[in-house]
This record gives sequence, C-alpha cells and structure tokens, in this order.
Amino acid sequence: YPIRKPEPQDWSFAGIFGKYDIGQLQRGYQVYKEVCANCHSMHLVAFRNLAEEGGPGFTAAQVKALAATYTVQDGPDDNGDMFERPALPSDRFPSPYPNAQAAAASNNGKAPPDLSLMAKGRAVERGFPWFLIDIVTQYQEGGPDYIHALLTGYQDPPEGVTVPPGTHYNPYFLAGAALAMPPPLADGQVTYSDGSPETVDQYARDVSAFLMWTAEPHLEARKRIGFQVLIFLGVFAALLYLTKRKIWSNIA
Ligand code: HEM
Repeated sequence: YPIRKPEPQDWSFAGIFGKYDIGQLQRGYQVYKEVCANCHSMHLVAFRNLAEEGGPGFTAAQVKALAATYTVQDGPDDNGDMFERPALPSDRFPSPYPNAQAAAASNNGKAPPDLSLMAKGRAVERGFPWFLIDIVTQYQEGGPDYIHALLTGYQDPPEGVTVPPGTHYNPYFLAGAALAMPPPLADGQVTYSDGSPETVDQYARDVSAFLMWTAEPHLEARKRIGFQVLIFLGVFAALLYLTKRKIWSNIA
C-alpha cells in the first residue's frame, strides 16, 4: 500500500529554545492513561518521573495518588507466591496484559508495542542534506509528527484496496498501511478540565507531546546546556584569539 509522510506539526518543544508545555503534557498523560494504557505499557517510565523537573509537573503527592490507581505484580512473598498490590511512585507503567503471548492473542496476533521510546523509535531520518541543518535547528519532531499522523490518519481504503481481516487502513503506518491497532480516539472521549478542545486532533497532539517527553525527559536541560556551551565556546574563542595576538605582537 502507498505510505504517506506525516505532515509536520507545530510543537512547543521545537527549535533551539523549545520547551514542553506543562498543560499539554498533563493532558497527554490523561489521554495515555484513559486510552492508550488499556493496551500499551511504558516499561521505561516510572510514576515518580512525572514529578521530575522538565516534565508534566505533577507534585509528589499527586504522583503517589495516581500510581495507586494502577495494580502491579510483586513477589515472591515468604511462601514463594507472586501477589498483586497498588503501584508505588517507584514502579513503572505496567502492561495491561500478563505476558507478550496474551497481548498478541488479544490483538489479532500483534502485541501492542511499549510506548516509552516510541517518539524516538519512529523519528524519521531526513537524510542528506537535511541532517546538516537538523543538527543546528535541533529538529527532533519526526516522531511526534508520526504519532499524531497515525492517530488522526485512519480512513477508508482507496478503491480497489482491501486490508487483511483484523487490520485497519492507515496510510501513515510505516509497516504497510494496514495496522492492527483499531482507531483508539474519538471526539469527546476524554474530558479535559482546562477547556482545551475535546477532539481527536487535540488528543493526538497532546499524547504525542507526552510521548516525546517520555522518550526525551531531559530535552529542556539538554537545550539549555547546549546553548550555554555555545556561548562559552564563543567567549573562549575570542580569548584565545586575543591571547594569540598578544603573544605574537612583538614578532615583526
Ligand atoms: C501500535 C500508539 C492506543 C493497540 C501502536 C503504535 C503506536 C501506537 C505509535 C506503533 C505503530 C508503529 O509500529 O509504527 C498508540 C496511542 C494510543 C494507542 C498513542 C492512545 C491514544 C491503543 C489501544 C490499543 C492499541 C487502545 C488496543 C485496542 C495497538 C496494537 C499495535 C499498536 C495492537 C500494533 C499494530 C501493528 O503492528 O499492526 N500504537 N496506541 N493501541 N497499538 Fe496502539
């Protein structure tokens, strides 16, 4: 099937001075929790990460409360048995399925992938000469563009195209436009408390930004330090140049 390129979106975290929008990350978390977490885990993200600087800005008390809404497996206990308990801030986002076989069996043979690093895993390579420009402009948005396009891109297959049973036509899906994930979002499905539009497009945008944060939690610090380093290198270069002039000044 023909595969379509994601349309580039405007992201608050784009560019040299880009920062995450805290409200958007909180909404994205809500979409993940209410919708995506029914199928997808985030094994590399711990609940406590949600309270770290540069992230969605939840307080430690909020994180404790929201972790407790999840159940995780623990054990073995003194009798050697596994048991279930409410999650703690130090636990990671669990899979809703007991194992990979069960995950695949519930989804027509395709286990829903872990979403922790998805925004980096699907970041498109733009190739020469773009990567020369991309390193300067800090272009990193291919992944969230892709996730947004995928979530909003379900449509009827074109004339003459049929997709295998159990899959859904989506021209943005990199592995061949027939995707085992049913359209997860619908208008009005998640209730926002900050008055943001309750549309598929907004949900997709917010959860894509949230997944960018899970994949790159230190983006803001990286950009800040990178800029400071550039200033330092500029000053250092000027000092070196002046030193060189001074040292060589009495040579005719
Ligand atoms: C695959 C995101 C909800 C089931 C994927 C992929 C992404 C994704 C990015 C990978 C596509 C690729 O490989 O390029 C999301 C998000 C969700 C969501 C952000 C919430 C808004 C769900 C739900 C289900 C589900 C609710 C189960 C009903 C699957 C399955 C796959 C998949 C089975 C594998 C598809 C395949 O390889 O054909 N999802 N998903 N997802 N998702 Fe979801």
